[in-house]
Amino acid sequence: MPYHYSGNTQVEITTLLYEFLADTAVVYYKTHAFHWNVEGNNFYGLHLMFEKFYTELWESMDEIAERIRALGEKAPPSYAELLKHASIKETEAFPIGQIMVQQLRADYLELAKKAEEVAAFADAHGDLATTDMMSERISLLTKASWMLQSLAIS
Ligand SMILES: [Fe+2]
Repeated sequence: MPYHYSGNTQVEITTLLYEFLADTAVVYYKTHAFHWNVEGNNFYGLHLMFEKFYTELWESMDEIAERIRALGEKAPPSYAELLKHASIKETEAFPIGQIMVQQLRADYLELAKKAEEVAAFADAHGDLATTDMMSERISLLTKASWMLQSLAIS
C-alpha cells in the first residue's frame, strides 16, 4: 500500500467513503426521479436543473468508488448491497415541484455535512486525496443547495 497511515485507518476511511457513496446514490436517484416526474409551470427549468445536479452526483460516484479501490477495498457489487449503507432516505412519493426543491436542498446539505465529517477524519489521518475529494463535494453540494434556495425564494 502506497500510504503511510495504518491499515486500520484505511479501513475506517473506506467505510466512511462506502457510506458516503451509498448516500450519494440515494440522492442521485432521487434527483433523477424528480427530473422525470416534475410537473407544473416550472417544469422545464426544474427538469434541466435537476439534470445538471444528477449528472454531477453520478460523476462523483465514480470518483468516490475509485478512491475506495485505490485504498485497497472493493466497490459495492450491487445497488442492493450499496443501499444497505445509506442513511439518507429514499422517497416513494411524487411531490410538487416546490417540495422537490426543498427536499433536494435538505438532502444536499445533509450530504455536504457528511462530506465534512469524512474530510475531517481523512485530514486528521493524512489522507489528503480523500480530503481534497470531499472538499470538492462540499463546494458543489453547497452551491447546488444555494441554487435551490434561490429558486424557492423567487
Ligand atoms: Fe432526461
